[in-house]
Amino acid sequence: MTHSFDKDYWDKIWQGDRATAMAAGDPNPHLVQEVNDLTPGTAIDAGCGAGTEAIWLAARGWRVTGADIAADALACARERATAYGVDGHVQFVEADLSTWTPHEQYDLVTTHYSHPSIPQLEFYDRLATWVAPGGTLFIVGHLHPANHGAADGEGHLDGHGHRNTEQPPAEASATAAAITARLDPAVWDIQSANESHRTMSAPDGRETTIHDVVVRATRRN
Ligand SMILES: C[S@@+](CC[C@H](N)C(=O)[O-])C[C@H]1O[C@@H](n2cnc3c(N)ncnc32)[C@H](O)[C@@H]1O
Repeated sequence: MTHSFDKDYWDKIWQGDRATAMAAGDPNPHLVQEVNDLTPGTAIDAGCGAGTEAIWLAARGWRVTGADIAADALACARERATAYGVDGHVQFVEADLSTWTPHEQYDLVTTHYSHPSIPQLEFYDRLATWVAPGGTLFIVGHLHPANHGAADGEGHLDGHGHRNTEQPPAEASATAAAITARLDPAVWDIQSANESHRTMSAPDGRETTIHDVVVRATRRN
């Protein structure tokens, strides 16, 4: 890896054509499948990018905060929320989630492929502290290469079909076992912890397999 996933890196990503490509995608299928049985309340999408999942949640009655380090991503997200008519139900906050702490806890804390410059599992530790008692932690991340074996340089699609030229590096990924091992069983009820693979077509027409790790847990207290 020749860069760190710091603000400069993400600002450059979002100043390119990526915002447009990400905005064209559907909400994350894992979120769509898993969240349907939850009663809407407050939610935060950590590393919300162009806001696709935050907007989807807001349209389903959640009061949503979308947080991201990249101002250009958030500008796109705000425009889209207005266009979808949900801007009264979602606010977008520019924040470095490796240090920022919200003033409240949420009924749903979710993240999709967000990988900041701090270790991935420490990032998930931080998100876990933001979940209110009885609330849900829902993590969708890049699966660690040791558990899917895709070669570096094969390329991957992000969650909205935008092609990246390199596999996410190991430090930006995780396994289900590594994530659940950090969730104290006295505090967390783990509903599901899965490693899965799906094929997605990029705008360039090529198909790529996306390797996901998906963990859902409820905070008991
Ligand atoms: C791969 S993109 C995923 C975006 C979106 N969740 C999606 O699924 O399309 C990762 C996102 O995390 C954001 N991000 C990375 N590091 C961050 C940090 N330290 N604080 C807040 N957001 C961060 C990036 O700006 C980017 O929007």
